[in-house]
Amino acid sequence: MTKILMVCLGNICRSPLAEGILKSKLSNAFIVDSAGTANYHTGSSPDKRSIAVARKYGINISNLKGRQFNVSDFDRFDIIYVMDESNFKNVVKLSRNDKDTAKVKMILNEVYPDQNYDVPDPYYGGDDGFENVYRMLDEACDIIAENLTK
Ligand code: 4NP
Repeated sequence: MTKILMVCLGNICRSPLAEGILKSKLSNAFIVDSAGTANYHTGSSPDKRSIAVARKYGINISNLKGRQFNVSDFDRFDIIYVMDESNFKNVVKLSRNDKDTAKVKMILNEVYPDQNYDVPDPYYGGDDGFENVYRMLDEACDIIAENLTK
């Protein structure tokens, strides 16, 4: 059983969306979770704009709760997808060995290999930022799901 963790900064905008989108493309044989590198939003629901854009595409993420990334996540998950370079640095900083580090991947590298493009943080922008993030994550998750199930 492959276990995938989605990571952003706050765990209320991008990574809960990524979690909901990937879950919608996989069976229950896979575990998908999300976390934030910061602890600002521990226990919080996703941002209402993330909930709204997910709902628009038929995905319910309203019951998710924010939590902070923890070093034990390196043991609990096989692949750790980060949304941007800052998340990458923060997660890799916590890795204990090469095996941990090798689990950490920039999610948009699934679409644009080796380019290290960021999923932009939509928190301080408008609703169109969330639509943009949704589309990026949907494209990446299509590829991730296809590779995991073939
Ligand atoms: P996320 O967005 O990392 O996609 O969840 C953010 C959410 C909250 C904050 C920053 C980014 N914040 O500063 O509170």
